Amino acid sequence: MRIGILGSGLMGGKLGTIFARAGHEVVFSYARRQQKLKKLAGDARGKARAGTPREAAQDADALLLAVHWLRIDDVLHQAGDLAGKVIVSCSLPMNADDTDLVIGHASSGAEELAKKIPQAKVVCAFNTVPSEVLFGVYQARRKANRPSLVYCGDDARSKALAAALIRDAGFDPVDAGPLRIARYTEPFALLVAQLAYEGKGGPELAYRFERFK
Ligand SMILES: NC(=O)c1ccc[n+]([C@@H]2O[C@H](COP(=O)([O-])OP(=O)(O)OC[C@H]3O[C@@H](n4cnc5c(N)ncnc54)[C@H](OP(=O)(O)O)[C@@H]3O)[C@@H](O)[C@H]2O)c1
Repeated sequence: MRIGILGSGLMGGKLGTIFARAGHEVVFSYARRQQKLKKLAGDARGKARAGTPREAAQDADALLLAVHWLRIDDVLHQAGDLAGKVIVSCSLPMNADDTDLVIGHASSGAEELAKKIPQAKVVCAFNTVPSEVLFGVYQARRKANRPSLVYCGDDARSKALAAALIRDAGFDPVDAGPLRIARYTEPFALLVAQLAYEGKGGPELAYRFERFK
């Protein structure tokens, strides 16, 4: 697939690298310095390059949205027309000092995002894991017990595409249902982040969200 990365920080930088190593064509965009995007693309060791958000969106089969909530409007504006595009969003609707969600219970960041870009197809995924675990999960992807990762969305084709990316990253995708389920998974993601960064167990606690068969 061709994957555009909108926001090449902790999440976008790592997931973009993983997608490139898994064989996808990746365009890294949206960082404060072009040099950083070029370095990410070089270090990814796959088919990866640096570009603008507009270039990342062009011809993309999927876009990973990985910016702070306060930067969403800016990056969407720079990306241009997103009609028909699949947007896999890991962005949480955090306040400026990252202490709390600014949307919750009656809606979610994912649902508000979908309202901003009604012609795009939004899938909420990857926001329940701290970036620290991503490379380790990818490296262990051939082991029998993969950690589960929940995702949600309203469009079946876009969800299948997101599930394929989740699998490529080394997780077992768990379909949590329609996009409105993000109002429950986003507070869960914040709890997970608090456990990971403030608790004693470290980031590895965070993705032990199991599916019982
Ligand atoms: N980090 C996690 O473990 C984690 C886990 C779950 C969900 N999330 C969510 O994922 C999203 C991304 O988080 P993150 O930790 O990856 O954030 P981050 O490391 O700060 O990455 C955000 C990216 O946006 C870029 N950026 C910020 N301001 C900019 C500007 N004015 N112009 C151009 N680029 C700009 C940053 O550039 P620079 O690279 O130059 O700083 C960076 O590449 C957030 O919504 C967060 O809530 C994060």
